[in-house]
Amino acid sequence: MADEEKRRVCVTGAGGYLGSWLVKLLLSKGYYVNGTARNPGDEKKNAHLYKLDGASENLRLLKADLLDQDSLRSAIRGCAGVFHVASPLPPKHSKIENPEKELIEPAVNGTFNVLNACLEENVKRVIVVSSATAVIMNPNWPKDHANDETCCWYALSKTLAEREAVEFGERSGLDVVRVCPVMILGPMLQPTVNASGLLLIRLLKGGNESIDDELMEIVDVRDAVESLVLAYENPEAEGRYVSASHMIKTQDLAEKLRTLYPQYSYPRSFNKVDEEPNSTSEKMQKLGWKFRTLDDTLIDSMECYQEGGLLD
Ligand SMILES: NC(=O)c1ccc[n+]([C@@H]2O[C@H](COP(=O)([O-])OP(=O)(O)OC[C@H]3O[C@@H](n4cnc5c(N)ncnc54)[C@H](OP(=O)(O)O)[C@@H]3O)[C@@H](O)[C@H]2O)c1
Repeated sequence: MADEEKRRVCVTGAGGYLGSWLVKLLLSKGYYVNGTARNPGDEKKNAHLYKLDGASENLRLLKADLLDQDSLRSAIRGCAGVFHVASPLPPKHSKIENPEKELIEPAVNGTFNVLNACLEENVKRVIVVSSATAVIMNPNWPKDHANDETCCWYALSKTLAEREAVEFGERSGLDVVRVCPVMILGPMLQPTVNASGLLLIRLLKGGNESIDDELMEIVDVRDAVESLVLAYENPEAEGRYVSASHMIKTQDLAEKLRTLYPQYSYPRSFNKVDEEPNSTSEKMQKLGWKFRTLDDTLIDSMECYQEGGLLD
């Protein structure tokens, strides 16, 4: 295999929050990157990718949809590795009209299509980005119960997608490693705020709202992409990893932010919620993963939101 082929990887959903930071890291490490987007010509959405160091020489942005097998095959052709990042992530509490179409199909069928394309194109290793929400959710959720309106559709989509990845790997022998980040915060490269960033912004603009004092598990976006690349590069890596750095109750996070940035309108009160399970990233740390402090993540996020006028 030629050197360029060995160092060529594909990132699905390259223009999103996590995808953009992953492309940036891979380019900085000398990889050749095939990034996918549904509409690579959309300047507003993807111009930031072309501004990354090394992008003009080593980044190709290709059109691919998770439900279009041929487009995925073309994007993956010639790659030694694939990072499957793309999956719909709607803002919390947003109305989902048709969960099957909007979330489950792109997540689950999309994972199948990406892995199938990887198999056909002889990809050596695939990193599937799952989510801590799929770790917490009942892994035995029956496939034919996907229409229960009481469940969190996003969590279900990630749980079923990860299960698809496990089963596909077992059936085909494809080397699939899953990485499950907790809530990702930190500065953005892309122009519009993604769902997890909106959660932090909501806390800063809480106003008269009363919000749940949930346990927040946080990983910095820059550490999350390091964890993905570690899992890709370490030949020993296998199975599932969790990328989680900090745990803090929502009210404590608001107090921490209030001390640093007293000028914002924090929520009026917090509702007590039941104890929730928490995550550990011990297995990922054994691969040599390190992460920055929560203060670093919050301060850099704030700087980015303030510069972008997102808190005005
Ligand atoms: N943010 C978090 O807190 C968090 C935590 C754990 C796991 N994750 C996982 O990390 C991944 C990226 O999340 P993110 O926060 O970066 O979200 P994001 O900014 O909303 O990015 C999502 C990406 O998925 C792509 N996508 C969505 N539906 C698609 C479809 N039908 N076909 C092709 N591409 C599609 C989008 O591509 P287009 O540019 O074409 O629209 C976009 O690039 C997801 O798998 C998510 O589940 C995120």
